[in-house]
This record gives sequence, C-alpha cells and structure tokens, in this order.
Amino acid sequence: KSGCITFDEGYGNTGSCMSDITFIDGEKGILRHRGYPIEQLAENSSFLETAMLVIYGELPSEGCLRAFRQQVCKNASIHTGMHSHFDGFPSDAHPMAILSSMLNSLGAYYPEMSSNDREQDLAHFDETAALLISKVRTIAAMTYRMKMGMPFVYPADKRYTGNFLHMMFSEPYNEYIDDHGAGKALDLFLMLHADHEQNCSTSTVRMVASGGANLFASVSAGVCALWGPSHGGANMAVIKMLEEIHAAGDDGSKFIQAAKKGEAKLMGFGHRVYKNYDPRAKILGKSAEGILESIGMKDPLLDIARKLEQAALEDEYFISRKLYPNVDFYSGIILKAIGIPVEMFTVMFAIGRMPGWIANWKEIAENPKSRIHRPRQIYTGKTQRDYLALDQR
Ligand code: SDX
Repeated sequence: KSGCITFDEGYGNTGSCMSDITFIDGEKGILRHRGYPIEQLAENSSFLETAMLVIYGELPSEGCLRAFRQQVCKNASIHTGMHSHFDGFPSDAHPMAILSSMLNSLGAYYPEMSSNDREQDLAHFDETAALLISKVRTIAAMTYRMKMGMPFVYPADKRYTGNFLHMMFSEPYNEYIDDHGAGKALDLFLMLHADHEQNCSTSTVRMVASGGANLFASVSAGVCALWGPSHGGANMAVIKMLEEIHAAGDDGSKFIQAAKKGEAKLMGFGHRVYKNYDPRAKILGKSAEGILESIGMKDPLLDIARKLEQAALEDEYFISRKLYPNVDFYSGIILKAIGIPVEMFTVMFAIGRMPGWIANWKEIAENPKSRIHRPRQIYTGKTQRDYLALDQR
C-alpha cells in the first residue's frame, strides 16, 4: 500500500483529505469557492462577503453580512497588554515572525476561545472568526508602524480595507489613495487570496487543528508555513526579481534565457496544481493596470512583468513544463502602487488567507470522524544493527 493515496476524513496516514470549501481544476485553470467561480466573486463580491462564503458555505444575506461587518469593525483594536509585545521585537524582525507570534499570543487574551477543548472552542467559533479576521489586519498595521518607528494609529469606523489603510498610513495619505481606488484594489487582492484548497499553509493549519489545537495556534502555524519563498514569500520575490531585471537594464529577455538555463527561477510562475493559467493571476494583472491608472502612476515593473509573461507563454521551455503566471506574479505591483512596503507583502497574503485557514480549522473541528493527521513514510534508512562501544567506532 505504500505510496498509494487513499481518501480519509483527516489525512489519517495518507496524503489526501476531503473538503467542500474550494474546488480547483489545475488542468483547466478553474477555481471555485463553495461552487461559485472566482471570476464571478471578483466581479460582484467583497473580501468580507467571500470570507463568509468560504467559512459558512453560503453567500450571506444582507442582514448577516451587516452583522459580520459590525462584528469585524468592533474587534479592530487589540488589548493594550499586547502593545508592549511589539517592544520585545528588534525593529528589523521580519513581519511574518511578528505576525505568527502575535496571533498565538492573541489566544492568551481569549482563554474561552483557545481552550483546546473542541466543544468549548467551537461554541465561540463565530466570535473567534470575526476577531481573527479583524485583528490580523490591526497587528499587520501595528507591525509596520513599529518597524517605521511611528506611533500606532488606532482603528477608525471604516470599511475593512479603508480601516487597514488608515491604521497603516493615518489620514492624509490614506484619504488620497482610498479616493483613488486603493481600498477597492486591496479588497480584491484579499478576496483572491481567501482560500486555495490544500496549499502548504492551509494543510499546516489542518495538521495542527487535527491534534485538537485551538484556532489561534493553528493560524499562527499557517503563517509560518506561508512565509517560505516557494509559497507566500513568492510575492516579495517577484518584486525583487522585477527590480533586479529593471536595474540591469534588461527588458526581461535576458532573464528568460537565464531561467531556461536553470540559472534563475521565474518567481510568480509555476504551480503545484495549476498546469494552466492561475485564474487569480489574470484578474490581478487587470487590477494592477487599473490601480496604476487611477492613482496616475507609471510603473516600469508592470511593463517588464507583461514582457516576461508574453515571452514565457510563447517559449517551449515554459510551455513544455506548463509554467504559467500564478497569484503572486502581479499582486506585488498592486501592493507597491498602494504604498505597502515589499517586506509586508507576505503579511498581506496572510490577511487574505485568514478566512480559508479559519474555514479549514472549522471543517476539522466540526467533523466527529476527523482523526489526528499522522502521515506514514517509506523508510529508507539503515536496517537493524548492534550498538558499537566508543573504542570500536
Ligand atoms: C503559491 O499550493 C497553492 O495553492 C499555493 C498558492 C496558494 O494560493 O496558496 O497558489 C500560492 O504558493 C503560488 C506559488 C508561488 N511560488 C512561486 O511563484 C515560486 C516559483 N515557482 C516554483 O518554485 C514552482 O513553480 C512551484 C514551487 C510553485 C511549483 O513547483 P513544482 O510544481 O513542484 O514544479 P517543479 O519544481 O517540479 O518544476 C518542474 C520543472 C522543473 O524543471 P525540470 O527539472 O523539469 O527541468 O519546471 C521548472 C523546474 O525547474 N520550474 C521553473 C519554475 N517553476 C518550476 N523554472 C523556472 N521558473 C519557475 N518559476
């Protein structure tokens, strides 16, 4: 049986699981949340509405959405006891390290929601979900302010992304960019990151949840998994790559040659599942153009990205390996246009992915048949041997 994949409620000793949250067809480039195509959600929905869909399984009524928005808005601040936690980090600490630690510490302020008693934690699930979706954004903004040596900006009574931009940049700048579509572009960015089947970080959340750990601990582990450059760290790596290409005066063609020789990796390209265009990349590519136009900004990195995409889509090396742009390829250009520093890009991915992590934790916690995830291995080590005394080694 080794190597074969058999379905099991919660991995058990296999590498697959069953879920009804998100469907992906990698060959056809299809992505649906609870049956709704990502293109229709991008066109008609909002981050918080899609978050409710991903978490609860249905598009919310107007009343439910309003109540959820109020719950999120009400939870925007964090306990003053946590403000001093920021003093403990060096100013050059990576924002993902801070985010993961702060999310886990958050649980300590809500013992009734982080008891590791499944029934008790589930009884508080709705409050915990709204609280995490709201406070992950506040912690991100406070991290930015701490690293910039600026005072924290308290949350205002604004919509989700408007409040985030307010806490990041305070009033004047925020008004300008919000009036120029930054809030809308950021809402779309977050929505497109809401969930994505069993990616590395979501599988990590399920793994931790399967042992009975609370939601705070599970999403904190998800942040650590997302941090890697092959996963959520790729959006930072894409901008770094585009800036290096630009600085070298290359229009992308030299870089493509280097990638084909295996001397460089085209970050933001390729995917474990999509062997076709990532539908999110298409939508983000259009949004990148839109936000730059409405802010009245030109960004040479967008031209280079377009050139790389064109070259790769026509090149045998990339075609034969089914390498297409993924969600990270254009997302950094949008964040950069809004004024979010590159170092915060993966944190932005984590804010967007929070609903998906929460939904997957819920799916494990609510399933009476779910068992601790315990993948097996194919042992390739030494066969049995006897102990050697020190003087015989
Ligand atoms: C995300 O799982 C998810 O859903 C993740 C995500 C989500 O929403 O959660 O979609 C978000 O993580 C998107 C992926 C972001 N990462 C990157 O953009 C980093 C660059 N991409 C590569 O690291 C890579 O494409 C992976 C890790 C994403 C996928 O790797 P695979 O499917 O295991 O592909 P592979 O490593 O087996 O490569 C197959 C071939 C190899 O060449 P050969 O050995 O056959 O000669 O393709 C080459 C690779 O060298 N290749 C690339 C490449 N990616 C793969 N060559 C150049 N540039 C690339 N980006």
